[in-house]
Amino acid sequence: MQLIDGKAVAARMRSEIAEEVAAMVAAGGRAPHLAAVLVGHDGGSETYVAGKVKACGEAGFRSTLIRYEDSVTEEELLACVDRLNGDDDVDGFIVQLPLPKHISEMKILEAVDFRKDVDGFHPVNVGRLLLGMPCFLPATPAGIAELLGRYEIETAGRHCVVLGRSNIVGKPVSVLMLRKAWPGDCTVTVCHSRTPDIRKITLQADIIIAALGAPRFLRGDMVKEGAVVIDVGTTRVPSTETRSGFKLVGDVMFDEVAPKCSHITPVPGGVGPMTIASLLKNTLLAGKKEIYG
Ligand code: GUN
Repeated sequence: MQLIDGKAVAARMRSEIAEEVAAMVAAGGRAPHLAAVLVGHDGGSETYVAGKVKACGEAGFRSTLIRYEDSVTEEELLACVDRLNGDDDVDGFIVQLPLPKHISEMKILEAVDFRKDVDGFHPVNVGRLLLGMPCFLPATPAGIAELLGRYEIETAGRHCVVLGRSNIVGKPVSVLMLRKAWPGDCTVTVCHSRTPDIRKITLQADIIIAALGAPRFLRGDMVKEGAVVIDVGTTRVPSTETRSGFKLVGDVMFDEVAPKCSHITPVPGGVGPMTIASLLKNTLLAGKKEIYG
């Protein structure tokens, strides 16, 4: 069994990006500029956004954090998105999700200029992904593809079972694994909360991508010998073992599943660190105008 070290791969990606930015700046160019919009004080969102801003600094990017209270109106947030769309100094921006219930996430995401949508959440980027056109890939699916690529895991012709159908992971990663490319060329099955007898399906999988948000859902008896298991779960549970007072639990019962795998990602230290590296990569692409000119 080989552990897929997302922390190490992400660190390597981030230093490759930092080197490229340093060379751009040395040649008289601008450093890429990412803006992040954070609404409210959700602990998870605060942590993620702080991590993104810190990573920007370490890669030599410029970053701007724009904060609103939970009471912000949809109109105010749409006005902020409009300002960022029109700000030539900002290469890309993200609106951290979830948003308060009185704000339509879809309306906000649709208002973002797709050429600055480094989260890859805008319908134009989602549609272009489906069509196999150049686009901003969403961070988690892109991070998974990067891990499979760097570990030289063969995907062509293999059966990939995706657990979960969210807009930000399950649906886009199933499209990535289906595409005529590497990593890709898989036969893909997507399972979700209404799928009967999931075990029967996961037992046929060569690659399992677990993205349900159901802690320790995937058990040892659901996985065939030699499978590749990618755990996207990051449920925060209270813990006395950590300084922060919580720990991250994956969707995979690691101790049972790992001995059966050829490769497996741990939680934490697997897919999680890759998402920030993927966001930096998209922001660099936005800064270089590589996708949309
Ligand atoms: N909330 C959870 N994951 C993400 C992400 O990748 N981007 C944004 N904007 N919000 C999120």
